[in-house]
Amino acid sequence: MKFHITTFGCQMNVHDSQWLTAALESRGWEAAGEDDAQVYILNTCSVRDKPEQKVYSELGRVAAHLKRDENVFAAVGGCVAQQVGEGFFDRFPHVKLVFGSDGIAGAPNALERIARGRDDRVALLDFMPKFAEREQPEKVSALVPETRQAFVNIMQGCDNFCAYCIVPYTRGRQKSRHPEAILEECRMLAGNGVREITLLGQNVNSFGLDKGGAGVTFAGLLTSVAAIDGVDRLRFTTSHPKDIAPEVIAAFGELENLCPSLHLPMQAGSDKVLKAMRRRYDIERYLAIVDGLRSARPDISLTTDLIVGFPGETEEDFRQTLDMVERVGFESSFSFKYSDRPGVAAVNMEPKVDPEEAAERLLRLQTLQNNITRKCLKKMVGVQTDVLMEGLSRMQDGPLASWKGRDPAGRIVNVPMEFEAGLAGMLVPVKIMEAKKHSLNGERTGEPW
Ligand code: SAH
Ligand code: SF4
Ligand code: F3S
Repeated sequence: MKFHITTFGCQMNVHDSQWLTAALESRGWEAAGEDDAQVYILNTCSVRDKPEQKVYSELGRVAAHLKRDENVFAAVGGCVAQQVGEGFFDRFPHVKLVFGSDGIAGAPNALERIARGRDDRVALLDFMPKFAEREQPEKVSALVPETRQAFVNIMQGCDNFCAYCIVPYTRGRQKSRHPEAILEECRMLAGNGVREITLLGQNVNSFGLDKGGAGVTFAGLLTSVAAIDGVDRLRFTTSHPKDIAPEVIAAFGELENLCPSLHLPMQAGSDKVLKAMRRRYDIERYLAIVDGLRSARPDISLTTDLIVGFPGETEEDFRQTLDMVERVGFESSFSFKYSDRPGVAAVNMEPKVDPEEAAERLLRLQTLQNNITRKCLKKMVGVQTDVLMEGLSRMQDGPLASWKGRDPAGRIVNVPMEFEAGLAGMLVPVKIMEAKKHSLNGERTGEPW
């Protein structure tokens, strides 16, 4: 069988798609382009209205392929699948499988049964009481990309119920994974050549605060993963400020391979809005965490998520967000207009911010962010660093091949080199020569390793 996966949403979805690819390839299935696929799998995101709407338009588009072959069918996984469930069967007759966050573990077998005509329609939407371990695929190439960067799940779900957020409904309650299973997977990946590991969860700082986790804290887990042979770079995402432990902050100064970057969603710069969002920290606490991180690791690069136009946000509240963005000096940020989601607390909060006003705030925020990003990148000129190469750059304009990679903080660095191939997954010593709008240019100063 030939399958095609389209992925929306966060890194957890990206990783889920990698695992599903590996599990299907282990069954002899083959990843294919859209025109050849017999099974279309959409791994969906529901965090805002826009990605949800995209799922419906994609399914409409995919329906065109049905004419080619009557056995062609579609499967919908991820957060919209969890949210809408069997509703997909009514609206889209070519959808034969829906699977949610925990249901994905059973998706490969269900797809096989449907492809063999043994099952007509399957819904895998139950939440499990414990972290749903998945089979370890025999063929791991989809989990071990050429770039030698891999993701590892350490938990599922979220208990925070921030007032705007649908994730606790789509991913279920927080369930930490057993630390031994995490470490075993990390060792397997390192054994297969992976040199950068990103630990994944909606709220990794609260790892082990539920019944899973076997008494190991997130800081303890970080220390164990960092000690695995071959792990040159360790990252984690996402972090909720309220749960970050002093030991995790200290780890940035102690663990050499823990990368000097942290994505720490702030969401808003006004205590009033943070309270309405139910984030359970205030600006003072957020700034204290930032100070702690910078004392532990002065070169740490901080990035964030921000929402504008949350119900009740005034111009003054919004200005406080601008203020905080400037004070912290985030290297970059993802910023979004508040979007009503079904069932979340903020749906009933008033007054709603006028959409045009929200759009204007977003633009002001992004203009400020671009200026700060530019300043941060300029400071990097002259710095000697190591870049983990990911592949050839999109723009090729010089006599040498231009390669794209990332420095330890995750900044994109383009480097001209005499090699046309074979550098993905290599670390290259580089001196930063120039700052662009969203990336850096550098020169190779040593041998790739
Ligand atoms: N677990 C992560 C966030 C996951 S969702 C955390 O707590 O940091 C990713 C981002 O989407 C959030 O940080 C938030 O900024 C944004 N987001 C979530 N729900 C939203 C909504 N209803 N409208 C607009 N943005 C939203
Ligand atoms: Fe959503 Fe808040 Fe949980 Fe993040 S911590 S996933 S924003 S509810
Ligand atoms: Fe989207 Fe679900 Fe991730 S809503 S952001 S795919 S957890």
